[in-house]
Amino acid sequence: MVILKLKKLEKESIRRGIPIIGSERGEFLLKIIREEKPKEILELGTANGYSGCILGSEGGKLLTVELAEKSAGEAKENFKKFKINAEIIFGDAVEVVKKLNKKFDLIFIDFAKKNYIDVLEDCIRLTNKTIIADNINVDDCRDFKKTILSHPLLETEIININDGIGYSRKKQILK
Ligand SMILES: C[S@@+](CC[C@H](N)C(=O)[O-])C[C@H]1O[C@@H](n2cnc3c(N)ncnc32)[C@H](O)[C@@H]1O
Repeated sequence: MVILKLKKLEKESIRRGIPIIGSERGEFLLKIIREEKPKEILELGTANGYSGCILGSEGGKLLTVELAEKSAGEAKENFKKFKINAEIIFGDAVEVVKKLNKKFDLIFIDFAKKNYIDVLEDCIRLTNKTIIADNINVDDCRDFKKTILSHPLLETEIININDGIGYSRKKQILK
């Protein structure tokens, strides 16, 4: 099971102070991946690839964005080690999402908390179905949390694991 396989990377990341989602939130992410079976996945905030290894563990194709070159390099090694079909974009997620034009089945937002609100409309445009956002109960996410809970195109629930996970499904509009 992927969470067990990632145990060493989890421990090492905690020891080095790398803010990964860890196994408890990882289990939630894995449950969603298994239920929804997303083929195309976008992640904002790669770090060393811990959550990316979970997101891509069921064979989906992962595109992940990271601003720190060293982290992106470590993620590349981890994706290779755990045989994850992943492409890393090295850059600012706020700028990158503006330029993306393909659709994703699932988007995982886990980068600079105060910038979540800046990528929300692009993420809604880019997703077919699901947006998951980590640390939703922290102060820097207050506007983002308020917006996803009242957005006309989203149905959102807050999962109370650690400092909260926003789980939003895009409403299907019949034309
Ligand atoms: C919480 S960590 C990501 C953890 C990772 N998702 C995991 O659980 O394994 C946040 C990451 O976002 C990156 N980051 C911060 N601001 C960013 C930005 N504007 N664009 C892209 N990445 C950014 C940081 O360098 C850091 O590696």
